[in-house]
Amino acid sequence: MKQRLLTGIKPTGNIHIGNYFGAMLPAVERQEDFETLMFVADLHALNQVQNAAELKRTSFEIAAAYLAVGLDPDKVTLFKQSAVPEVAELSTILLALTSLGALERAHAYKDAKAKGKAINGGLYTYPVLMAADILLYESDLVPVGQDQQQHIEIAIDLAERFNHLFGETLKLPQPLHVREKDLPGIDGRKMSKSYDNVIGLFDSPEVIRKKVARIVTDSKTPEEPKDPDTCSVYGLLSVVLPEVELAGLRMHYLASGAEGISYKEAKELLADRLVQLVEPIQARYQELQSNPEKVEQILSQGAEKARAIAIPFLEKVKDRVGLN
Ligand code: TRP
Repeated sequence: MKQRLLTGIKPTGNIHIGNYFGAMLPAVERQEDFETLMFVADLHALNQVQNAAELKRTSFEIAAAYLAVGLDPDKVTLFKQSAVPEVAELSTILLALTSLGALERAHAYKDAKAKGKAINGGLYTYPVLMAADILLYESDLVPVGQDQQQHIEIAIDLAERFNHLFGETLKLPQPLHVREKDLPGIDGRKMSKSYDNVIGLFDSPEVIRKKVARIVTDSKTPEEPKDPDTCSVYGLLSVVLPEVELAGLRMHYLASGAEGISYKEAKELLADRLVQLVEPIQARYQELQSNPEKVEQILSQGAEKARAIAIPFLEKVKDRVGLN
C-alpha cells in the first residue's frame, strides 16, 4: 500500500518558472510514489482574495496549470478544497480544541500583526483549517517547505490533543521535508511574484526573450572568466540544461580568452531553452482553457473521491466527540 500524501496549493495568478521548478515539477515527478491528494486551497485563499471572479479564475488556472505540466488525474486526486464541505465541519470541531496561544504564535499571523496589517479571523485560524485538511484525509505525509513547518506541528498537536480527549482517532501526519531551491529572478533576487521579477510559465516567447535579455549581470567582457555561482543567467540555466551540457557551460564560464562565453550568448541559450520548455506546456494549457468543462469534470471527480474518504471519517469523528 502506498502512503497517502496530501498537498494544498494556493490559487495564484501569474504562475512563474520558480513555481514550476520549485513545487509543480517535483509534485508531478513523484505522483507515482504515493497515493496523492492535491487540492486547490480556495477556502484558505478567501482570506486574501475577496473577489469572486478572481478567486474562480485563479482556482481554475492553478488546476489547469498542474494538469498542463503533467499531473495525471488518474493518479492524483485533484479537487477544490471547498468542494469537500466536511473540511469546514472538522475545522469547527478542531477550533474548539485550539489554544489562542498557538494561533498567536503562528508565523503568518505574527508577521501580519508586526506589519500592522488588517487581520481577519480566517488568517488567524488558518492553521486550524489546514490541520483539518490534513487530518480529514488521514494523511501520512505532507510535503512542507520551511514556511509550512509550523503548520504541520500545529496539526500534530491538535491530533494528539483530540486523541487524548476522545481516544485514538486522528492519524498523526509526518512532514516530508522538501528543500525548496529558489530560482533567481531577472533582478537577481529570489524569483517571486511580490518582487515583480518573474518569468511567467505562460509568458509568450517574445516576452520571455525580452525578460531574459534584461537579467542583471556584472559587466565582464566575453573574454573574462565569470563566476557561474553568482550569475542569475547560469542559475536559471542550471535548471533547464541537461547535466552534461551544464558541465560544458560551466567550463566556458570559468574559461578566459576565446574559450569564454559572453552574457549575451548565455542569455540566448537560456531564452531558447525556456521557450522550448514552456511551449508544450502552454499548448496543453490553451487546450484546457478552451475546454474548461474538462477541468471542471476532473475537479468534480476528484472531489467525489475525496469525499468518499472524508464523509465516513467525519462521521467517526462526530461519534467520538458526541455530535452523532
Ligand atoms: N498553507 C499552504 C501554503 O500556503 C497551503 C495548504 C493549505 C496546505 N492546506 C494545506 C498544504 C494542507 C499542505 C496541506 O502553501
